[in-house]
Amino acid sequence: MSLDAFINSLPKAELHLHIEGSLEPELMFELARRNKVEIPFDSVEAVRAAYDFSNLQDFLDIYYAGANVLQTEQDFHDLAYAYFQRAAADRVRHAEIFFDPQTHTDRGIPFQVVADGLLSGMKAAEADLDVSSQLILCFLRHLDEDAAFATLRKAEPWLDRIRGVGLDSSEVGHPPSKFKSVFAAAGSMGLKRVAHAGEEGPPEYVWEALDLLKIDRMDHGNRSMEDPKLVERLAKEGMTLTVCPLSNHKLCVVDDLKDHPVPEMLRQGLHVTLNSDDPAYFGGYVNENWRQLTAAVGLTREQLIGLAKNSFEGSFLTSAEKAAYI
Ligand code: HPA
Ligand code: ZN
Repeated sequence: MSLDAFINSLPKAELHLHIEGSLEPELMFELARRNKVEIPFDSVEAVRAAYDFSNLQDFLDIYYAGANVLQTEQDFHDLAYAYFQRAAADRVRHAEIFFDPQTHTDRGIPFQVVADGLLSGMKAAEADLDVSSQLILCFLRHLDEDAAFATLRKAEPWLDRIRGVGLDSSEVGHPPSKFKSVFAAAGSMGLKRVAHAGEEGPPEYVWEALDLLKIDRMDHGNRSMEDPKLVERLAKEGMTLTVCPLSNHKLCVVDDLKDHPVPEMLRQGLHVTLNSDDPAYFGGYVNENWRQLTAAVGLTREQLIGLAKNSFEGSFLTSAEKAAYI
C-alpha cells in the first residue's frame, strides 16, 4: 500500500478545526446569494486568489469577512454538514470543532441560531456519516474578558451540548492571562479548557495557558520548542498538542514544511496530533495535512500510527469510547 493510501486508511480524530474556517468559496457564494449579502469578490477563483497570507492577522481579516454570509440556522447546519462530509472521506471518525460565537453575535446573529444550526449539522453527520463530534466554544482574544463572560452567559442553556471552551484570534498582545477568570468560571461549570498558544506568541504564553488557564489540551504550541523546560513539562504531563502543518506554512509560522517541528516534537516525547485548522483557507483537509507533512519531513508508518492513536487519546471522548478506536 502506498504511503498516501496508508494515510487515507487510518481512522483518525480531528481536534483542531474552526468550523467557520471550513467555509469553502463555493458555499460562501451560495450563501451570499441565498441571503442577499454582498461579498467583495466576483468569482470563486478571485476568493481563492485572495488567500495569500503573510501572518495570522492577514488571514483573520478575510476569515471574519467571509463569515458574514452565515445568517440562518440552515446556513450553520450546511456549513457543519459540508465539513463532516469532507472529514468522513478522510476517515475522520470523531471531530472536536471550534466555533466563534462572538463573530456572529457581534453582527446581530443570535447565539441560538449559531449553536442550534451547528448542533443540527453535527447530529445529521453522526446519523448519516458515522462521524461523532463535540463542540468547543472559542472566546475571541482580541476582545476583552467581559465580552467573553457575556458569551459564556449566553451559552448557558446549551452547556449540556458544549464540551469545552477555547481561545483563538489574534495572539500577540493578547496573552492567556487576560482570560484567567473566565477560564476559571468555565472550569467550575465542568467545561474542558483548550487555548491557542505559541502559534505566533512566545513560550511565556504557553506557560500561562498551562498555569493560569489550566488547559486540558494545547492548540498549536509550536513556539514551545524554544524553551527546553517547557518541552520537558509538556512531555511529562502528556499534554496533547493540536498541530496544524498547512496552517503553519500558509501563515508563515514555518517558512518551509521541511522545517516543520513535528519530527523534533515527537523525538522529545510530545503528544502530537495533526489537524487542518481552517481547511478552506489553508489548502487542505486533514489527510492533505498528513500527506504533505509526511512528504516534506519523512514520517514513518509507525509514526503515522502513533499520530492517529494520539488523536483519539487526546480527544475528550470517554475511556470506553476511545477504546473502540485505539
Ligand atoms: N489562530 C488563531 N485564531 C484562529 C485561527 C488560528 O489559526 N483560525 C481561526 N481563528
Ligand atoms: Zn486554530
